[in-house]
Amino acid sequence: MLFPEYRPRRLRRTEALRRMIRETILRPDDLILPLFAIGGRNVRNPIASMPGHYQLSIDQLVEPAAEAWDAGIPAVILFGLPEDKDSRGTSAYQDDGIVQQAVAAVKAKLPEMTVITDVCLCQYTDHGHCGVVENGQIVNDATLELLAETALSHARAGADMVAPSDMMDGRVAAIRCALDDNGFTDLPIMAYAAKYCSAFYGPFRQAADSAPRFGDRRTYQMDPANSLEALREVELDIAEGADIIMVKPALAYLDVIRRIREQANLPLAAYNVSGEYSMIKAGARLGWIDETRVMMEALTAIKRAGADMILTYFAIEAARALQA
Ligand code: PBG
Repeated sequence: MLFPEYRPRRLRRTEALRRMIRETILRPDDLILPLFAIGGRNVRNPIASMPGHYQLSIDQLVEPAAEAWDAGIPAVILFGLPEDKDSRGTSAYQDDGIVQQAVAAVKAKLPEMTVITDVCLCQYTDHGHCGVVENGQIVNDATLELLAETALSHARAGADMVAPSDMMDGRVAAIRCALDDNGFTDLPIMAYAAKYCSAFYGPFRQAADSAPRFGDRRTYQMDPANSLEALREVELDIAEGADIIMVKPALAYLDVIRRIREQANLPLAAYNVSGEYSMIKAGARLGWIDETRVMMEALTAIKRAGADMILTYFAIEAARALQA
């Protein structure tokens, strides 16, 4: 059937018709809110490049977590800014570390909320890399033990899920093994499986003080030009025991999200990263774009591409817009 018999505009005529044929429905249930924990009391340092986000001391952090929960968001992911950094990221796996304390505080206030922790060393190492450095190289196998130790300490603090973001080979298996050996057989792993070496992380590195002090992350994060490699990374993480896989960033990688959705039968997360958030905020501040509409369009596109859940700094704003 062709024009003039078939006219696609017939089903776009009213809002009720458009609602009936809508294929992708974003829900607050799809969203995960990232939060940044820092030491001290009553600390609320605005993150200049991420309007609406703050480095929060633990007494302040529970509030946005509760706002998210009240807006229908089921989960937060916590990042920590430690007081001390050293070459081996010791503060990442101390039982009284910043993330460990933040997990306990959120769980105490919001026991039903899913609290996910980012497992990585870059915020905790003085060189800012995600692994152990020897002779200027980021060494893989020596890092695994430290990541496993970090995940385990998050589990002991009460985390509901751990999310390794370091991109070392073999980290999912190392973490699974450490969790299982210590009785955390029911704790899921969300693996940052296809994590690209992206300039879209720029604002996050200011927020989390985690920029590498020398070199870059190209020897461990993926080349933005590759998507077959993303499929291999996903296969490996699934084989090693990942429960949820992630693509990161999201908006410049919608094709990767789609390809992985078609190949893998695990829940798929996408990380709408800091730079993606900042660009929309900046455009809106300049009056060049309609912030709410662009935000909803971007998040809907990520879901339409195949993501089941979206980590996004827009989580509370989007959930509220959905409830309105
Ligand atoms: C830590 C980590 C990063 C992000 C999440 N976990 C930064 C990086 O890899 O440099 C980026 C998140 C964002 O940009 O919103 N490895």
